[in-house]
Amino acid sequence: MSNTGYSKLIDSNQEAGVFRVARQSFTDMGVFQTERDEIFNRCWLYLGHTSELPKKGSFVTRPVGGRNLIFNRDAAGVVNAFLNSCPHRGATVCREIKGSAKNFTCSYHGWVFGADGKMRDLPGVESYVEGFTKSGCADLVKVPKLAMYRDFWFVCFDPDAVSLVEYLAGATEYLDLIADQSEAGMEIVSGTQEYAIRANWKLLVENSFDGYHALSTHATYFDYLKNMNGVLSQGNVIGFAKDLGNGHAVVEYTAPWGRPVANWVPAWGEERKAEIDASYQRLVDRHGEERANRIAKHSRNLLIFPSMLIIDVMSLTVRTFYPKAPDYNEVTAWSMGPSEEQGWLRKNRLHSFLEFLGPGGFATPDDVEMLEQCQRGYSNAREAAWNDISRGMKKDEPATVDEHQIRVFWRRWHELLQQARQDADPVTVR
Ligand code: FES
Ligand code: FE
Repeated sequence: MSNTGYSKLIDSNQEAGVFRVARQSFTDMGVFQTERDEIFNRCWLYLGHTSELPKKGSFVTRPVGGRNLIFNRDAAGVVNAFLNSCPHRGATVCREIKGSAKNFTCSYHGWVFGADGKMRDLPGVESYVEGFTKSGCADLVKVPKLAMYRDFWFVCFDPDAVSLVEYLAGATEYLDLIADQSEAGMEIVSGTQEYAIRANWKLLVENSFDGYHALSTHATYFDYLKNMNGVLSQGNVIGFAKDLGNGHAVVEYTAPWGRPVANWVPAWGEERKAEIDASYQRLVDRHGEERANRIAKHSRNLLIFPSMLIIDVMSLTVRTFYPKAPDYNEVTAWSMGPSEEQGWLRKNRLHSFLEFLGPGGFATPDDVEMLEQCQRGYSNAREAAWNDISRGMKKDEPATVDEHQIRVFWRRWHELLQQARQDADPVTVR
């Protein structure tokens, strides 16, 4: 499909209050390849969190944007992101998921790299030209751009990209609301959820901050919550949707559930109330009443374009994903909490991480089923060609159950596709 073809993938008419997305956007191989070139190869993508590298030598390996990366802290304490491919013949250098290492040794021919990526030892070095190991060609390759905001580390494969802070735009305010939940710093709690969905990645973007589907798709869970807390109905969740710039968007709303950061609910029992109230008071002392209330008693589903979601509900889930095919999306999710949190509160957080958004929880299996049903529906795309994303189109103050935040994503997606370079890299990651 050409750039001209891409222009027809969105049908937006503000006057008429109609916004539609062509279903071809979820199935077309040309669209998928252009997404990889223009979105995943050019946008900043979430890599990991400072807390995952607690000491010198700490490392994790993970796929990001179709590459395998090493995210580590070297002997000088510097955080790095390397392509996990040996500069010799390309073998995966580090095959562990996480750990601590002063050096990385490639198993194939035994090249050894320091934690700073520099060549340390090369078997048979005398057979190479003088200065070979010093030239840099035998070092691990760094990701073109690596930067951090409030302990969230991002990479970008486009050396000409704007700075991370410029890219994040209004999303920084929402990362602040996460980071400010803790006195000592937030941390990724050990344990990772990994699963795949037989549906297009953009369906999970939509779903991850779609307030409209909650009470129908997750009826069972919300009935349970209503019985537990006696407070929930669509009418008493007050909130809004907001465009944060560069395709990032958020829904923010009063939390109808308990939040370990400091939102007590009766289901937790009177005996827990004093502990939660004390946590809340500490937030007030640090940030003032208004901000403490926003941090503790509100929830947020934040999209950092294109595929990072921070779902700050009854616990805090960081979710990223990357498509393997137009109809196949691989998802990774982590739980995050204040590093000083312990005991019952930490247990409660982890329980919620599993109970609602976990792949075996109350919500995610229902969501996965819905997304896969949508993808199946697109086999009819020739005749039934459009998805409707019009809800709340004419409202000045869209609610969380409207689709404003989803349109923000689609508009940016569309913009980037239409900017597709005719001279795209001859070598692209497929
Ligand atoms: Fe790594 Fe040869 S491929 S040492
Ligand atoms: Fe859902």
